[in-house]
Amino acid sequence: MAIKWRKELEIGIDVIDNQHKELVDAINKLLEASAAGRAKEEIGSTLNFLSDYVITHFNFEQEYQKRHNYPKYAEHLKLHQFFLQEVQEMKRQFEQDGASLPFIIQFNKRIVDWFVNHISKADKDYAEYVHSLKGAK
Ligand SMILES: [Fe+2]
Repeated sequence: MAIKWRKELEIGIDVIDNQHKELVDAINKLLEASAAGRAKEEIGSTLNFLSDYVITHFNFEQEYQKRHNYPKYAEHLKLHQFFLQEVQEMKRQFEQDGASLPFIIQFNKRIVDWFVNHISKADKDYAEYVHSLKGAK
């Protein structure tokens, strides 16, 4: 199911919120193209964009956390590494079966749900930490 961008998904750091929005757009685009039965190449290129941009985005977050000495950096890094493997797995599945129903079901579970949950919990946690540092100054 498409992700509707909502206030609860904002972590309050503009540059990162914008990257999250970009990822949500790509996720939605892929879901819509799959539902409409669009060509495999078109869906594949969105999936490639998504997997590349996730790497850029995660690197950005990791650098940002390091810069602010986020105490749960290592824990957060593991979450990112797990997700990158999931994305690779979805790419493999897509290469094999295209945007089949099992692919879409797995994509919803392993990509959409994970991503929304990650933003709402783990990303909000480091954002709160950074905001608390700024408040303390
Ligand atoms: Fe994250």
